[in-house]
Amino acid sequence: MAVGVFDSGLGGLTVLEAVTRRLPDVPFVYYGDNANAPYGVRDADDVYELTTRGVERLWRAGCDLVILACNTASAAALRRMQESWVPPKKRVLGVFVPLIEALTERQWGDNSPPREVAVKHVALFATPATVASRAFQRELAFRAIGVDVEAQACGGVVDAMEDGDLILAEALVRSHVEALKRKMPKPDAAVLGCTHYPLMQEVFQDALGPDVMVFSQANLVADSLADYLSRHPGMLGAGQVPMLLTTGDARRVSVKATHFLRRKIDFHPA
Ligand code: DGL
Repeated sequence: MAVGVFDSGLGGLTVLEAVTRRLPDVPFVYYGDNANAPYGVRDADDVYELTTRGVERLWRAGCDLVILACNTASAAALRRMQESWVPPKKRVLGVFVPLIEALTERQWGDNSPPREVAVKHVALFATPATVASRAFQRELAFRAIGVDVEAQACGGVVDAMEDGDLILAEALVRSHVEALKRKMPKPDAAVLGCTHYPLMQEVFQDALGPDVMVFSQANLVADSLADYLSRHPGMLGAGQVPMLLTTGDARRVSVKATHFLRRKIDFHPA
């Protein structure tokens, strides 16, 4: 009954923590493509090739349902995968839609026409590839009208976090927030559109100021997954054993992950 969680590296661990807390009886198999991270500076074809390879590995681990806990993969590869690659008995879901549903105050599966929502000025912080895809604006336009989105490509933040350099990551976050504010001085809401960023949420909030509502993904994705599984219990795959797999050096990745989440984490070779 396992479910797969895919990420380019360590960021998806923030989602893994939230889904494990929300669904403690489900064994989750995590795949971190650390050998090829970061994805945020790769082109869409590259992200597609790497993501499909990782998802196939999760299918072999007995997961029929895979969550792409990576905005870059969700933005740059998911639509193409769903349209022409995912076989009938498998599912791949991304992390964008739960976030946008929360922002636009919609329930899961509400397909009514786009309407006005409370937030008018939204700052999006994400990787360069996610920003370039414009997937966030596209998904938002299906659900809301009259929302002004200003996107800031946060170059360097993921690399600094993967390297465990949180001082550099913090300095970069503050300079990206300053750059965003020059383009949009008073956002109502900020979306952290990268699964690495929840660990920097306090820094984003501090730099943005207390009046800006910061949306972060992990808990939103966990609620959406719980809801999805209650409606599709057959999507729990045959796998029984929770595992953490990496394409990188398992020992080094375990050390970094332990540092990243501040608790002991053990990865195995994918
Ligand atoms: N954490 C991933 C995301 O949500 C990707 C970061 C990267 O590999 O660049 O976008």
